[in-house]
Amino acid sequence: MGGPGAWVAQAEPLAPVPASMRTLAPRPAAMSNPTASPNRIEHQLTDKGYVPVYTTAVVDQPWSNYTETDHQVWATLFERQQQVLVGRASDEFLRNQRAMGMSPDRIPKFEDLNRILRKETGWELIGVEGLLPELTFFEHLANRRFPVTWWIRKPEQLDYLSEPDLFHDLFGHVPLLMNPVFADYMAAYGRGGVKAHGIGPEALVNLTRLYWYTVEFGLIKQADGLRIYGSGIVSSKGESIHCLESAAPNRIGFDLERIMRTRYRIDTYQKTYFVIDSYEQLMEATQPDFTPIYTRLAQQDSIPAGNVLDADTVFNRGSGEGWLNDGDV
Ligand code: PHE
Ligand code: CO
Repeated sequence: MGGPGAWVAQAEPLAPVPASMRTLAPRPAAMSNPTASPNRIEHQLTDKGYVPVYTTAVVDQPWSNYTETDHQVWATLFERQQQVLVGRASDEFLRNQRAMGMSPDRIPKFEDLNRILRKETGWELIGVEGLLPELTFFEHLANRRFPVTWWIRKPEQLDYLSEPDLFHDLFGHVPLLMNPVFADYMAAYGRGGVKAHGIGPEALVNLTRLYWYTVEFGLIKQADGLRIYGSGIVSSKGESIHCLESAAPNRIGFDLERIMRTRYRIDTYQKTYFVIDSYEQLMEATQPDFTPIYTRLAQQDSIPAGNVLDADTVFNRGSGEGWLNDGDV
């Protein structure tokens, strides 16, 4: 889940939204009349193309309305990713995923996960229709509420869909909310988002890049090698393999201001992944007030997604194979 700028693409070209879908008549509110399809308002033109806009309301997860097909999609993705992530996802992700007790059998109930999550780190999941406006999203995070899209993708969308769904949000984001340090980082990010929103759109761009390259696409250096913690990666089979094993992308040491200047890809695998040493490093590096950083960054050019700088700590210098020349956002 993220604001419109911070959801996750899963590595195939973004399908353009057909003209007929750009404006949909509002449907009855999900709470009064739960249906098995999202309560989508319309598609809105942004710098990322047409983005669906949903009600900002918090909705009850319409659990009994999930179809057998929905549960089957969950089961298929869950089992597939569990296999792919052995030896690829961070120990912390895998351990917490087990501790939460999600299983392939059925789509988890937010209620059940919340009992565990509240006790561990004070976070709770809330159901939403999809992408939220930035400020609404930040306010939820600042108050330790993680918005989870309640609907799940269709069977023909196992490998790619152009917006976050329940699988990405639950499978990808929720396990690390069990980690106290990461849980604090996410809440601090929410408070930082509210602040950046007040400062202006450029500050928000800088902050969104940080979310993208950590929460969504972050790698971590463990004693036994690089591992994945980013939700956008763990919820994608192709990118889980690509980010660690392909020679194409750069793998570069975490550097806060460097990341905040770096553009990214929303329609292909990332050209660059940033590697943290620990969740504590992430938390400590992001403690300082960002206000002077935003001012400084406003004087500097952004960095193309695939560039390597002299000052970078390079784990892998990407071969650049398969990279498209345009399209960094
Ligand atoms: N320290 C940041 C600020 O002052 C807030 C923040 C914390 C942002 C953690 C991201 C992650 O804006
Ligand atoms: Co996400």
